[in-house]
Amino acid sequence: MTRYARITGTGSCLPPRRLSNADMVSMLAARGVETSDDWIVERTGIRARHFAADGVYASDLAVQACLQALEASALNASEIDLIIVATSTPDMVFPSTAAILQHKLGVAGCPAFDVQAVCSGFIYALTVADAMIRAGGVRNALVVGSEVFSRLLDFNDRTTCVLFGDGAGAVVLQASETPGILATDIHADGKHTGILCVPGHVSGGQILGDPLLKMDGQAVFKLAVGVLEDTARTVLDKAGRTTADIDWLIPHQANIRIMQSTARKLKLPMDRVVVTVDQHGNTSAASIPLALDHAMRQGQIKKGDTLMLEGVGGGFTWGSVLLDF
Ligand code: UT7
Repeated sequence: MTRYARITGTGSCLPPRRLSNADMVSMLAARGVETSDDWIVERTGIRARHFAADGVYASDLAVQACLQALEASALNASEIDLIIVATSTPDMVFPSTAAILQHKLGVAGCPAFDVQAVCSGFIYALTVADAMIRAGGVRNALVVGSEVFSRLLDFNDRTTCVLFGDGAGAVVLQASETPGILATDIHADGKHTGILCVPGHVSGGQILGDPLLKMDGQAVFKLAVGVLEDTARTVLDKAGRTTADIDWLIPHQANIRIMQSTARKLKLPMDRVVVTVDQHGNTSAASIPLALDHAMRQGQIKKGDTLMLEGVGGGFTWGSVLLDF
């Protein structure tokens, strides 16, 4: 009998501090940096983002998202036999945020590790968990995207600091006799490292290089719209489905214009695209599971719907997962 991996519960967490564009305008004005609500909305679709308080780490947001996902799937943390966290803002250099999360969930023993593929991280993590479940060794996995990207922002750089936010999303992925995940597709091309990176690193007790986010927005935009169409078509081919089979597209939430372009290329109307970038900003690896959980809780997504999840980000990395929910 074929063994599949199926999402049986979702959860998410946004830190309580919400900053509207007006809040960002006044916060940046105090530093002599000029921006406007009009510019941010018109160029990105973002209206607000959440920032974690000092001392709140990716694992703290992840715990809350995981507890919701566990409740939704009627599982206890002790029944989980794999934890994967996608993050580029880990609590520490090591150990992994997944190991710290495991302890905060009050369990021990199951494998726990991080996946680092920046904004494609959740797609990578889901792909790895799907493969491990189908291989037979894992029954119940927690797959998480959690980020405190506000820690990496240069608030003197208006071209990047208005774009990102903090948050976490999680799913419980369980072995199942019926799909579930239908196909996955992941890629990387390291020659584009320089267009989206945080070049700093720890060495000899010091941070060497710049520890804040750098992005060539236009270069990222151009690459993103191309690869998102490619991976969407590839994952559909792998599953023997067509765009007409997609009930909901849940893309990485970076910029509404990238989502509109992808939808146009796939001939999907925008009312089949889950959009949360307006309220969350770009939460990197957390954006897809956050959007999935919000759409599910608002009753947009229903059991049995076919979903296409798509990510793109630093690396350059990109990929997609097609699944029956
Ligand atoms: O999560 C990983 C994936 N990341 C992405 O997908 C991001 C992809 N890139 C983008 O979303 C867009 O390129 C941005 C939103 C980052 C920028 O939008 P754009 O339409 O490409 O703007 P631009 O960089 O061409 O800048 C246009 C103008 C510039 O002024 P001049 O040179 O035309 O006078 C910028 O200085 O907008 C100015 N500008 C701003 N003005 C007000 C840039 N940032 C701001 C700002 N407020 N925050």
